Amino acid sequence: MDVQQHSVSPRDDFYRTYSAAQVDAIVDSLVQRGEFPYELTYLGDGSEMWREAETPSDAEHSPMLSDFDTLLTSHAARLLAVAPSASPVRIVDLGPGTTRPVRGLIRHLLDESRLAGYRAIDISAQILELARQNLGNDFPGHAGRFELCRGDFTGPDLARVLAAEGDGADTVRFVVLAGGTLYNFADPARVLRHVCHSLRDDDALLLTLRIDTGVDRPPFMDQISVGGPYKPQQLAGLDLLAVDRSWYVTETGFDRDRSDVFVRVRFLEPVTVTFAVGDDQRAVAFEPGDTVLVWRYLYHDAAAVADQLGRCGLRVRLFEHGQDKQVVLVAATPAR
Ligand SMILES: C[S@@+](CC[C@H](N)C(=O)[O-])C[C@H]1O[C@@H](n2cnc3c(N)ncnc32)[C@H](O)[C@@H]1O
Repeated sequence: MDVQQHSVSPRDDFYRTYSAAQVDAIVDSLVQRGEFPYELTYLGDGSEMWREAETPSDAEHSPMLSDFDTLLTSHAARLLAVAPSASPVRIVDLGPGTTRPVRGLIRHLLDESRLAGYRAIDISAQILELARQNLGNDFPGHAGRFELCRGDFTGPDLARVLAAEGDGADTVRFVVLAGGTLYNFADPARVLRHVCHSLRDDDALLLTLRIDTGVDRPPFMDQISVGGPYKPQQLAGLDLLAVDRSWYVTETGFDRDRSDVFVRVRFLEPVTVTFAVGDDQRAVAFEPGDTVLVWRYLYHDAAAVADQLGRCGLRVRLFEHGQDKQVVLVAATPAR
């Protein structure tokens, strides 16, 4: 039987969505690691599902709040106790998404007259626009306190958002990395060291994470599940490459060596994607059986979370479970 070879070029909106440097990074990642960088699926259309998740905040239509949305709020007073008493607090939100998880903390700091300001950095212009709208709706009259910056917090842009011009010497920063974002990176320890390096002694890193509690483990940890579960946005990057969903199957599983839960696609048919990179072209070929990873999540237990933070120069000051015991809030300060 003849197997059809598919030759495609990325859709027009791929080039509208990504800068030349990001196109290069996508090609490099596909070639070198067989991975589509998940953080880049938050750009363009990929941001839409976050918008959909943000439902009206009136009581009648109030959204189902998860522990990820409520943990920072329900422990706001205890988080404040981690900072020196009476010091103003600046929130620096790394990857704010809808801002839903931090708005209760902002409210608490405003009520306590402790909010020095809120700054967010996100790789996605569309997500930042969503964040701006949501903050404006919840805090009319405070727009001047909110700064939203486009950039990549895993690189030099982090120093820019942590810069303290205008803040008093006693202002502490609460650096928020919420919604499990940290564990989506291929090398979370590198990101942690990068953040820790930029913290001052009184600053705190606030994480919300899903962890392994040893119970209710997903069934695909024992055996790869072909065909799901996965979320549509995890395939958004391949959609932009014009790779048809019928040319591959999805596999959800667990990589024991890395402790990563993952979603990847496994090609059924040969596909070549040809990218325009400046005046050049770069082709990436996939054979039947080849895989491309589209999402990963480090699945650590509580001890491994604390151990990794310690190795990256941070000391755990607060560790709280949500109603769903797998969702935790961790506050850590530099261990120097
Ligand atoms: C999992 S969502 C979490 C959103 C929000 N913090 C929450 O808890 O709901 C990850 C967010 O981080 C952003 N992001 C991911 N990697 C990033 C990077 N390297 N630099 C800047 N933003 C990034 C995404 O665009 C997205 O808004």
